[in-house]
Amino acid sequence: MTKAMASGGVRVRLTGIRRVFPVLDDAGRARGGSASGLVVLDGLDLDVAPGAFVALLGPSGCGKSTLLRLVAGLDRADAGAAVVEAEGGASGGGGARAPIAYVFQDAHLLPWRSVLENTALPLELAGAPVEERRAAARAALLQVGLADAGARYPAELSGGMRMRVSLARAMVTRPRLLLLDEPFAALDELTRSRLDDQLRALWAELGMTVLFVTHSIIEAAYLAERAVVLSPRPARIVADRTLSLPAERTAALRTEPAFAREVRALQEALERGGA
Ligand SMILES: Nc1ncnc2c1ncn2[C@@H]1O[C@H](COP(=O)(O)OP(=O)(O)O)[C@@H](O)[C@H]1O
Ligand SMILES: [Mg+2]
Repeated sequence: MTKAMASGGVRVRLTGIRRVFPVLDDAGRARGGSASGLVVLDGLDLDVAPGAFVALLGPSGCGKSTLLRLVAGLDRADAGAAVVEAEGGASGGGGARAPIAYVFQDAHLLPWRSVLENTALPLELAGAPVEERRAAARAALLQVGLADAGARYPAELSGGMRMRVSLARAMVTRPRLLLLDEPFAALDELTRSRLDDQLRALWAELGMTVLFVTHSIIEAAYLAERAVVLSPRPARIVADRTLSLPAERTAALRTEPAFAREVRALQEALERGGA
């Protein structure tokens, strides 16, 4: 894909985010009224520059997915604001050219649709003409190394290939913000590092803002320019590090002293946070 098709990134600004889930009793009623509940986020601030690649690192259950859902507009904060800001105005997402795409740990492909039809789905839902969406889906599949797999079906693919289709489907709308929630966590080590490389390459080419949730310190250090380390629930930011690593990430980097230093710093931050 050429630079002319690059989408660029948007700014993400979270201010004073609070999210409390009601604790329900056996009858499904909120126990103790609105005053009590599970406090997942409490006064969280985060400012992400357009085009940044940020890893959100934190222990299981601390509130990472909740945070991502708030950014995507899939959930509402009880206090504070989550703003996704294109130049010339704020946007909560939606519309024909949705600026936000979301990738989950499970690829969530429709088994009765071919790879090409799965990839084209967001454009189909947006009402794009068939030729246009097929062309865009082919381009997206090419970007993730699946140019020849368009006619195949999900059941015929490996886990890594399915996740690449999921990534292609996310990229087909040329999102300006890509949210990924532990997308490669279920894959084997080698497949995972290949997908890490592919994601870095997509980001370098297209320049969208990326928020990548992971509980892998090594993956966070390898992928991101900035790593935000969260404490156990309610998630506080215990470290916010700009990683001093070269822009070009290759497998060799994983064995270099600079990489080991970053990994150690993130590990210490996680421990400091009480993980
Ligand atoms: N819709 C919900 N209702 C009630 N509790 C929830 C809901 N979503 C998440 N939680 C709880 O909030 C906490 C944080 O969840 P989550 O954001 O999924 O954590 P993480 O992604 O960091 O593992 C967990 O204790 C989880 O059980
Ligand atoms: Mg989660």
